[in-house]
Amino acid sequence: MNIKVSAIFVCALCAFVASVTPASGQLTKENVQSEFKKYNSMQSKQILENIFSRKSVRHFTGKVVSKDDLTMVVKAGMAAPTGKNMQPWEFLAVNDPERIFAIAESMGKTNPMSARTGAMIKEAGAVIVVCGRPDVSHNWMLDCAAATENILLAIESMGMGAVWTAAWPYEDRLAATTEAFGLPEDVVPLCVIPVGYPKYEKAPMDKWKPEKLHFDKW
Ligand SMILES: Cc1cc2nc3c(=O)[nH]c(=O)nc-3n(C[C@H](O)[C@H](O)[C@H](O)COP(=O)(O)O)c2cc1C
Repeated sequence: MNIKVSAIFVCALCAFVASVTPASGQLTKENVQSEFKKYNSMQSKQILENIFSRKSVRHFTGKVVSKDDLTMVVKAGMAAPTGKNMQPWEFLAVNDPERIFAIAESMGKTNPMSARTGAMIKEAGAVIVVCGRPDVSHNWMLDCAAATENILLAIESMGMGAVWTAAWPYEDRLAATTEAFGLPEDVVPLCVIPVGYPKYEKAPMDKWKPEKLHFDKW
């Protein structure tokens, strides 16, 4: 009897979940979970869920991100693949509130896009600059982009948020970033990543366009 009642309850629950799942392929935690049910390893489900949950976060509570968390995040960045394994990168992570404020102020006095990044930095709990070493590899921007994506995914998985804001290839933003963070001359900042605890809930975008995937033949 109890088994029967439980079975009815489970069926009703499944029907309810199916009825509230958006039909359009819109991403929600529930339909990401169900979409990847077929990958029966728990680990791959969680990794795919994390990839599909990532979104750019531009508003933060101001709570400081710890040095331990920043170290783990940058470690994830350094796990990225690089051409010929050259690892042509350096990372600057700042979590001192006074320093964050000063950097944000400095960015705010430059060009409009850097000022926009400066406003995000002011609310953030930390900021990471991903820098390339052109003297080590001409692929630096590709390798640093791979590291940046790893960083963004690690941040998402740790319950925080972040956004990739471009420095490279814009002359004005490169200059503003180099000045604000006091970067040495032999590195080029690819991007500035404000990191923190999201102020608002935000859903990830659904970018899946089946027509852009060409199977077997274009
Ligand atoms: C190369 C690159 C440069 C970007 N530059 C900026 C930027 O300067 N400012 C900003 O607010 N977002 C920037 N973004 C974030 C994009 O606007 C964002 O990824 C895109 O709108 C998709 O949204 P999502 O990250 O939430 O999926 C950049 C992203 C990339 C990959």
